[in-house]
Formats: sequence, C-alpha cells, structure tokens
Amino acid sequence: MHVLNHPLIDDEMTRLRDPDCPPPEFRRRVRRIASLMVPAVTADVPVAPVPCVTPLEEATGSRLEREFLLAPVLRAGLGFLDGFLDLIPQASVAHIGLARNEETLLPEPYYLKHPPVLENFTIILLDPMLATGGSAIEAVARLRKAGGRFFRFACLVAAPEGVAAFETACPDVPVFAAALDRCLNDRGYILPGLGDAGDRLFGTSP
Ligand code: PRP
Ligand code: URA
Repeated sequence: MHVLNHPLIDDEMTRLRDPDCPPPEFRRRVRRIASLMVPAVTADVPVAPVPCVTPLEEATGSRLEREFLLAPVLRAGLGFLDGFLDLIPQASVAHIGLARNEETLLPEPYYLKHPPVLENFTIILLDPMLATGGSAIEAVARLRKAGGRFFRFACLVAAPEGVAAFETACPDVPVFAAALDRCLNDRGYILPGLGDAGDRLFGTSP
C-alpha cells in the first residue's frame, strides 16, 4: 500500500473534498491528481536496455518491456482515466462496468470490454474509491479470468477496511492511493471521504 504524500496532491485532495466543488471543477481536479500519481504508480515497471544513437555518439537507452492497459471501473473510474492517458497516451483501455448494490454493498457487474489478449500488459486498475474493496476485488478477478497477470491499482481515497480486504484477496497487486482515510460509515461510505465520486463527477447527486 502506497499513500502518495505530496503537497500538490494533498492540496488538490482538500479542494476536491469540499461539497461546494462543482462537477466541472471536480473533474478537472481528479484529472490533475491522476496525472500527479502517474510517476509513482509506474515507477517500478520493467524496462529493457536498448542501443540508441544520439547526434554525437552511440549510447544505451531503455524501453518499456510491456504495454500499458488502463482499466477504469465505471462510472467513477472514467474520471481518473484522462489524467493517466495524458501521460501514457499509448495505453490501451479496458472498461469494467460494476455498480455497487447500495443494500448489500456488493458489486454487480454490467459491462466488460478489453483487448483480446491481456497476458503481456501492465494493467493499471483505476477507481477513485476503495471502500469495502468489493468492486476492486471483482474487477481484478474479471481481468485475471480474461488472462491479466501484471496488476496495480490506483485510487484517490482508500478506507482501511477496503485496503485490508483487497490485500487479502489480491496480495500481488500494489495499491496506490492519494489519501488513506479513517473508516467506513454504516452505509459503506468513506469517512471523511468525498461523498459519491460518480455522482460528483457526472452531476447525478440526488
Ligand atoms: C463506487 C466507486 C467504486 C465503488 C467502491 O462506484 O467508484 O467503484 O463504489 O465501493 P466498494 O469498494 O465498497 O466496492 P459505484 O458502484 O457507486 O458506481 P458509480 O461509479 O457508477 O457511481
Ligand atoms: N463509493 C463512493 O463513491 N464513495 C464512497 O465513499 C464509497 C463508495
């Protein structure tokens, strides 16, 4: 579990939590935080040495060994996607539709679209909220079933309960969070959190 303590991220997160932050500003800030997270989330991906030629001499450079697959969990993961694509424009994208049942708090799958072969991608699962962990665990399970092998998970806000559940279910998947919050409330919302990320991104708050 990596909590990305950084002044720029912390400042953005504080503004994002404010209930008066309207959807256009919320989207902009989520996108900016996502971009700020990219260097940490990708810091240890494998590279291979390659020969390169400069205008002055021959040298040794490095190339990424694997392609990236960004995997946003719908809907809220879409808000996170553009900030990652801004810095990794060559990435492929897999969409995973999961809706958390507000009674049971269990994820209900409704959509999945990914490239036909997943074995050789570094897969970055994207979802702003890690609450009970059910959605992230289900998303990894579905992509594993389809052949995915190399995962990491980026979120904005994590609850300790979700981190524990995710680490138990997916011990090989590192988690990167912009903030680790206190706990869940009795409706499965993160405290202090930022409310319903999907609703705040897309202007569907009740
Ligand atoms: C939210 C959030 C996560 C999930 C987290 O999505 O974006 O996907 O809940 O909760 P969990 O860790 O307890 O599973 P939601 O299902 O509300 O859908 P939405 O993004 O369409 O609003
Ligand atoms: N989903 C959200 O969008 N927010 C929470 O606090 C928990 C789950």
